[in-house]
Amino acid sequence: MSRPSPFDSIASDSSAPWPGRRPALWHRVVSWLRNESRRDRSRRRWARWIGRNWARISYAWRVEPTWLELNRCDVPIQDLPSPFDGLRIAQLSDFHCGRHVPLAYLQEAIELAQSERPDLIVLTGDFIHTGFRYVDVVAETLGQMSAPLGVYAVLGNHDFSVRNALGYRRHRHLHRAVAEALTARGICVLRNETVELVRGEARLYLTGVEDLWSRVCDLDAALEGLAHDVPRIVLAHNPRTVEHLNGRRCDLMLSGHTHGGQVNWPGLGRPVLGRHTRRFAAGLYRYKDTYLYVNKGIGFSVRFRFGVRPEVAVVTLRAAS
Ligand SMILES: [Fe+2]
Repeated sequence: MSRPSPFDSIASDSSAPWPGRRPALWHRVVSWLRNESRRDRSRRRWARWIGRNWARISYAWRVEPTWLELNRCDVPIQDLPSPFDGLRIAQLSDFHCGRHVPLAYLQEAIELAQSERPDLIVLTGDFIHTGFRYVDVVAETLGQMSAPLGVYAVLGNHDFSVRNALGYRRHRHLHRAVAEALTARGICVLRNETVELVRGEARLYLTGVEDLWSRVCDLDAALEGLAHDVPRIVLAHNPRTVEHLNGRRCDLMLSGHTHGGQVNWPGLGRPVLGRHTRRFAAGLYRYKDTYLYVNKGIGFSVRFRFGVRPEVAVVTLRAAS
């Protein structure tokens, strides 16, 4: 008869530091993998493959979805007036608030952005994941943010309750509730419109357009009557909005939506993103005369991220030489 292991009592004792049966299961799986790897070469390879991917999946589920990173980048802008040279814009995107995204984590993202002391804060959509329930909570939390030039936002496809590019919509008035809640907390929601940022005599346009899938995105209305020699920053949830500029001036577009694909798996890439969206998965791109920054987002639709950590981005404008 084999001697009882000291771990047997822990596994069966629900008051032990690791409650329940999970440690015993994990211990059994690890023991099985270890035994398999000792048997022959092919089983060793197989056991290592399972072990490696099991570790990756655990990490992608437990660690990376709330492991924030701060990304800073400089973007050269033509005709940028000297008072705006060095302007720092903090961008947060895709909060997807709901019961699956912890409020404390959202608070952490806000504190990270504020710790950078940005001149301007922009929020590029998908404030809630689905339904009306979390609208006030997210607005109340984001309403704590402040910056000298203000906090601006555009809505995303989830705020419009549009679930796909075909325009399937479940809650028709959700966008109004989200916009009103944010506005009531001092966040300026740009809905196919432009505001002028002023420093002394210098001007800079900040435009916000509705989400591309909402079918009410109107770049003509948003950019109408603007002076052509004044630089423009456009907030658009979906990065593919850049393909609809059709020669209109846009120096920098700030977007989100993709979540970087949420998974960038070794050997597989970003399987969640479609072929066209993959062109603008995450980071800084140049599309014709426009710089496009695609933010990987704060939240997630499904709690799973691998190789695509959530981010707070700080973009610094530089006068192009
Ligand atoms: Fe999103």
